[in-house]
Amino acid sequence: MKKISIAIDGPAAAGKSTVAKIVANKLNYIYVDTGAMYRGLTFQAIERGIDLQNEELLGQMLKETEILLEPTEDGQRVLVNGRDVTSEIRGSDVTNHVSIVAKHKLIREEMVRRQQRFALNGGVVMDGRDIGTHVLPHAEVKVFLLASVEERAQRRHAENLAKGYPSDLEILKAEIAARDKLDSEREVAPLKKADDAVEIDTTALTIDEVVEKIMALAMERT
Ligand code: C5P
Repeated sequence: MKKISIAIDGPAAAGKSTVAKIVANKLNYIYVDTGAMYRGLTFQAIERGIDLQNEELLGQMLKETEILLEPTEDGQRVLVNGRDVTSEIRGSDVTNHVSIVAKHKLIREEMVRRQQRFALNGGVVMDGRDIGTHVLPHAEVKVFLLASVEERAQRRHAENLAKGYPSDLEILKAEIAARDKLDSEREVAPLKKADDAVEIDTTALTIDEVVEKIMALAMERT
């Protein structure tokens, strides 16, 4: 069977990575979480006290930063210059600053180059904000996942509580809306549905139902 590329885009906390991981597993494809790459860089920049508005300095740092995504039993490990930052990059400090780092042209150009290299041989499920529009414009399957802010915040809230993390639904709603705004309004490669992407509103769907829809699209095109 032909190995294809599957691009999954959408706003924050729309469930992209959850379904992307399952689809990749079912197809025995590699899964690339591009958000984790921006998060890894942001973590390092915060730790080093770098001004997140300083594009030049961040660009220089990225050149010297190796970001690896390694598959594990239950997802993937994120290594920044050899250091495992898988859980650190999910913290609120990184989450609330990553969109500032991700708006810079120099950063995006380098990240897109790296992401395209991951997909060279096909057989990839990649999720992010600009995969269908910029990273893999020729992907055989393009999906744009949507859900209301209310629903996305509820899901994240439930996830946090299940993990025993402190969580405030109203704060989550405000943070998700703020990140969407920055990601949609930035000049370079803003969050936008590709013209040829299939839109799936997941608000009233289960994870399995979303996976089924994407698998059906993949089967049509392999
Ligand atoms: O997908 P995730 O929520 O982990 O992404 C974190 C942030 O990284 C996004 O809010 C966005 O600012 C940035 N991002 C991006 N382009 C991508 C993936 C993520 O700008 N392809």
